[in-house]
Formats: sequence, structure tokens, C-alpha cells
Amino acid sequence: MREFFLVVFAALAACTIGVPSVVRFAVNNEVSEYRQNVRLQTYSFKNCLPADQEMGVVSRLVFSPDPLSFPGPLNVSFAIDVKSTVSAPLKGSLYLGKKIDNTWIKVPCIGQIGSCSYDDVCALLSGIPGCPQPFVDAGIPCQCPFQKGSYNLPVASFDVNTAVFPPGDYHLQANLTYNNQPVGCYDIMVTFG
Ligand SMILES: *[C@@H]1O[C@H](CO)[C@@H](O)[C@H](O)[C@H]1NC(C)=O
Ligand SMILES: *[C@@H]1O[C@H](CO)[C@@H](O)[C@H](O)[C@H]1NC(C)=O
Repeated sequence: MREFFLVVFAALAACTIGVPSVVRFAVNNEVSEYRQNVRLQTYSFKNCLPADQEMGVVSRLVFSPDPLSFPGPLNVSFAIDVKSTVSAPLKGSLYLGKKIDNTWIKVPCIGQIGSCSYDDVCALLSGIPGCPQPFVDAGIPCQCPFQKGSYNLPVASFDVNTAVFPPGDYHLQANLTYNNQPVGCYDIMVTFG
């Protein structure tokens, strides 16, 4: 499964799956072989557009087990309300930051991972081979268009075995614009320790 897949699905898994690769490749080259287990200490999520502008509202987001530690299993559950159908042209913009010495450092975009811009999110999605079975089972599309409706993912399980990333505070923000109008803004803060 590719990271940008998750840009659209509330950026939540982009955080949990993308962050490890980003950190491995971009942030901490010096500790690229970080092998200790890390735990998810805290996380917070918010929709960051005014409610009347947000076309895709994440109404629920739950990670388990609790505590979550990597490498290990990761279960994600979420619900999204799509208030009106979203399709191309859909642009995405990601900010990924890591706190180093009390300062937020922007993680650069390297190989489509990190603080990247995606001019055509629908085209990216159409390049992804297959939709994960839990999404298929829940009737959640992996491709544009995203029809108006409520989508509920009861649970998707991932085995995060490549998660060799250092403890720290991370900030992920994902913006979506449709026809140059902001339609989604998702903000996640996580702390691994
Ligand atoms: C994770 O999900 C799987 C099914 O997909 C389930 O069997 C398992 O109990 C779940 N674990 C937790 C901690 O929720
Ligand atoms: C997302 O949009 C907000 C509000 O327009 C802006 O302040 C923020 O910088 C944007 N973030 C990204 C990652 O584009």
C-alpha cells in the first residue's frame, strides 16, 4: 500500500505508515537503523477547515491496540462524511514536521513522501493497484470520484514491521483542494516514545 493513498482517507494512516518511512529516509539518517520498539504515546486529530467548507469530515478515528507499539500490529477505524461528491481536479498538500530541540522542522518531500504537493490526487489514486480488502468490504472507494455519503471503516489491520523510527513529536497536516477551493484540512499530532 502506498502512502499517498492515505492522503485522501483522512491522512490518518499517512501518519502512522508514512511517518516511519519518512523518518527513515529523510529525518534521521543517523539513526536509520533505529531498532527499539516505540510506542504511540499520544495523538490528536482535528478537521481544520470551517465546518461549512469541509467536504470530507472525519467524524471518528480510532487506533488500537492501546498502547500501540511498533513494530507490531496497527488497527485503524474511522468514519468519514462526504458532504458532496469530490473528484478531479483534486490537489493535495502535505506538511510533515518533526520537533527537534523544541523547534518544528519541516520534513522535505523525498520520493513523494514528506511535505509534498500532489497536483492530481485522483491520478495518483488510479495508479494504485487494488484497494485493501477492509475498504472494499466497507464500500469505501479507493478511487475518484468520492460520492456523497457516509463511510465507515469498522477496522483495518496493518502489520507495521518496518517501523524503525525514532521517538519524538510529529505534526502532519493534509489539505485538499477541489477546483481550487479548499475542501479538506486534516491535522494530526502524534508523539512516539
Ligand atoms: C485488530 O483487528 C483484527 C481484525 O481485523 C482483530 O482480530 C484484532 O482483535 C484487532 N485488535 C485490536 C487490538 O483491536
Ligand atoms: C492548509 O491550509 C491552511 C489554511 O489555508 C494553511 O494555513 C496551511 O498552511 C495549509 N497546509 C498545507 C500543508 O498546505
